[in-house]
Amino acid sequence: MTVLEGTRVRLRPLVPADYPSVFAWYNDPETIAPFDRFSVDTFDEFSQAVTAAAEDPASLAPRFAVERKDEGRVVGAVGHYRAHPVLEYTDVWYVLGDRAARGQGLGRESVRLLIDHLFATSAVERVGATCDTENVASYRLVEGLGFRHEGTLRSALFHHGRWHDVRVYGVTRAEWAAKAPRG
Ligand SMILES: CC(C)(COP(=O)(O)OP(=O)(O)OC[C@H]1O[C@@H](n2cnc3c(N)ncnc32)[C@H](O)[C@@H]1OP(=O)(O)O)[C@@H](O)C(=O)NCCC(=O)NCCS
Repeated sequence: MTVLEGTRVRLRPLVPADYPSVFAWYNDPETIAPFDRFSVDTFDEFSQAVTAAAEDPASLAPRFAVERKDEGRVVGAVGHYRAHPVLEYTDVWYVLGDRAARGQGLGRESVRLLIDHLFATSAVERVGATCDTENVASYRLVEGLGFRHEGTLRSALFHHGRWHDVRVYGVTRAEWAAKAPRG
């Protein structure tokens, strides 16, 4: 079992006891719906998707639970997926479903651990993130890790009744190693 130890958070694979709380975040429009395209209608579908994710690089299912080390509680989840059918990069996504855990640097620490893990265990040369232009916390999180804003896709994401622009961010393996970003 892969466990990624940080200072304040630990990333570990989800276990069935985590599923109800994490699944609940997918039904909370404020928490995840605007920013994530992973749609699961039922708890059974969710459970199956989490279990099957290990065999599917394109899966949008959560791959690690984010556990606060001080409280021993799961407050979030992170994932990664092959985002394009042809281009060879991996995008990361991240959510702190527990709103009380936000704004303390736990999200950035979680994503840093995830990216260290991706570069250490896969051959990927670029890790990306796509952030709704209105999701300031999301894009500032990756900017603080040294990601570059590579461009903006116009009208690329539909939610809340209208189209939204999306910022494309990326960091290369060489940049990650050179900057040794810490946040
Ligand atoms: C995005 C998210 C994971 C950020 O986690 P977090 O732990 O609160 O973020 P951090 O404390 O690590 O802060 C990261 C940066 O965002 C900024 N930030 C955090 N919350 C913010 C907010 N509400 N508004 C504006 N900026 C914010 C922080 O100041 C920091 O930037 P800085 O270092 O330049 O000052 C969290 O807000 C969340 O779960 N949002 C809902 C799900 C989502 O949108 N996920 C991203 C889609 S992939």
